[in-house]
Amino acid sequence: MASNDQLSATGIESTLEEHRVFAPPATPHAGTPTWHVASMESYTKLHSESINDPETFYGRVAKELHWFSPWSKVLDWKAPDAKWFVGGKTNLCYNCVDRHVEDGHGDDIALVWEGEPADEDKGKPKICAFTYAQLQRRVAKFAGGLESLGVRKGEVVTIYMGMVPELAVAVLACARIGAPHSVIFGGFSSQAIVDRVLDADSRVIITCDGAWRRGKIVPLKESVDAACETLENDHDHRVDQVVMFKRIGVDPMPWNDERDVYFRDVEEMGDQETPCEQLDSEDMLFLLYTSGSTGKPKGIVHTTGGYMVHTYLTSKYVFNLIPDLEEPSRGEDSFAGQLFWCTADIGWITGHSYIVYGIMTNRVPTLMYEGAPNFPDEGRFWDIVDRHKVTQFYTAPTAIRAFMKWGDEHPNKYDLSSLQVLGTVGEPINPEAWMWYRSVIGKDRCPIVDTWWQTETGGHMLTPLPGVTPTKPGSCTLPFFGVDAAILDEKGNELPRNAGGLLAIRKPWPSMLRGIHGDRDRYIDTYWSKFDVDGAKISPYYFPGDGARQDADGNFWIMGRVDDVINVSGHRLGTMEVESALVSHDAVVEAAVVGMPHEIKGTGIAAFCTLAPNHAPADSAAAEKLKADLAAHVAKEIGAIAKPDQIRFTDALPKTRSGKIMRRLLRSIAEGQTEIAQDTTTLEDYSVLAKLRESDEG
Ligand code: WT7
Repeated sequence: MASNDQLSATGIESTLEEHRVFAPPATPHAGTPTWHVASMESYTKLHSESINDPETFYGRVAKELHWFSPWSKVLDWKAPDAKWFVGGKTNLCYNCVDRHVEDGHGDDIALVWEGEPADEDKGKPKICAFTYAQLQRRVAKFAGGLESLGVRKGEVVTIYMGMVPELAVAVLACARIGAPHSVIFGGFSSQAIVDRVLDADSRVIITCDGAWRRGKIVPLKESVDAACETLENDHDHRVDQVVMFKRIGVDPMPWNDERDVYFRDVEEMGDQETPCEQLDSEDMLFLLYTSGSTGKPKGIVHTTGGYMVHTYLTSKYVFNLIPDLEEPSRGEDSFAGQLFWCTADIGWITGHSYIVYGIMTNRVPTLMYEGAPNFPDEGRFWDIVDRHKVTQFYTAPTAIRAFMKWGDEHPNKYDLSSLQVLGTVGEPINPEAWMWYRSVIGKDRCPIVDTWWQTETGGHMLTPLPGVTPTKPGSCTLPFFGVDAAILDEKGNELPRNAGGLLAIRKPWPSMLRGIHGDRDRYIDTYWSKFDVDGAKISPYYFPGDGARQDADGNFWIMGRVDDVINVSGHRLGTMEVESALVSHDAVVEAAVVGMPHEIKGTGIAAFCTLAPNHAPADSAAAEKLKADLAAHVAKEIGAIAKPDQIRFTDALPKTRSGKIMRRLLRSIAEGQTEIAQDTTTLEDYSVLAKLRESDEG
């Protein structure tokens, strides 16, 4: 794929040439009676309606869901502010759970969960299935319990849990009472909890004693306790209540009598009749923190109605979800109803939209798996697909590359014939991994949907539709309904086909972010200032931060970020964030972080550090020790995903005469393209190289 090196604001070049095209399967899979969108003509017709007459298109879609009272207007738009379904009252928890019970589907399966330990239940993994009626009871009781703890509408509840069903219960319970959730991925550090709790002014944290990950225990409660201490001592912020779900039975259990309460006890406090609040379409549904190009993560604001409609519709069309399939006896090519599995963690937007909200509004059961793909062995995911008869499978390119490396023998041991549609998300997928996914997992019969979107977009934006779109390995193909995407220059002019440029979205869409929590200026600067259209202060177009091109057939090819954000294993990190973490260590005076190619992660992290004189390592053993300390420090400040893959010490960072760090040069060093004299010494003088480079360029 094009590396960041090929991207700069001035010249975005694409190096990828891919000519293979795969037509959608002529007939749907035996388990799928029909494709929702079945011809290119109907895609084109619906797409143009959705762009030219969003009122009609989205008004019709929204009516497939439940509203307590109708909207007066579908869209109210003045850049950069959108209101969707203005004045409408609804509740997303109602649409995910209660609606299905009312419609007589209380006994249908809503959620299937599998734990990580392989022998937890009589030599087998532990599995729980919840019907809509069971889920409704648990969610209502927990929501009532939260209310009796004093949680009110509009108050942000922080959630830091492992992948247990109670995480889904907690999220839905928040949605039920209109308390926005802020889910923090369980891999983040206690410092990350501190930052997010403060920013959201949150007083209640829901957590687990621990989480299983590759056979080891991640001590979540310890991190929460440490965060609470820091919050109280250093920031004068008191967390009133920590609700803890006991997953592991950690011994001794970290416990604070004043603050802690068991999840089960909160459930017991609540009434199973706790109603769904009638929320305004624009009431905040959740905050989700993501990295940007400054050191401070930003709380992306999503609201209720538009997010509900777009995640519902994308789930339905992109994965071809169909509830109520007959339950035929399992035979050669007939399967029970659909079972959707997204392997992401609910801590990321993918999990919010495509484990919980989008899938549940479609009344198709969603599978949640607790643990790692290689526990107890590298076949675990395929074992799950086989045993549960998963029909739609959604994962990330980094995982696909890991599976490739582990070898075909693992998937080949299992029956994967239940699979109907395969999805990918998170970063550009290299054509080799795409082909492997298609042939080894999909046996050349499952369409692949490569979905491009972001935390900010809430749901899919560029994606194939499985029954319609011809696919090309590495391309996320065409815009979804309601999405007006284009490749532009900085003046907002559309570029010719095949020219690399800035990806832009020119019209509002229902699940777009409504802001950055508490930071209006940053919202405008980051997303609404890139395109200088007729000198307008606020650009009419949304800028997602990606470079891309459109090929001769109109297919989109994402080339990567053009800002100081890197995408590590499909997880977004700001280079500044990692740099600030490094500089907060005593030994480091200055740091520069760049992305580098990585076989599994896609992009790895390379860090260049200048050290304080009294910390210069005496020999290479001391240098190695310091590198390990720095990596551990970054993990403590941010989380293990931010650990640099490569750390180099340097006397000085290469800078231009005006003092800008020469990141391009650092990237080529990290990639190993630039020869470095005396690479084996502990201190490397890149400034010399920079001078050379500057004189070359000058
Ligand atoms: C960034 C968003 C959407 C959930 C996961 C990541 C990159 C995402 C693709 C794709 C190429 C992709 C973009 C985007 N990205 N999906 N299919 N092809 N790139 O969410 O953390 O908000 O990151 O991930 O660079 O801007 P996120």
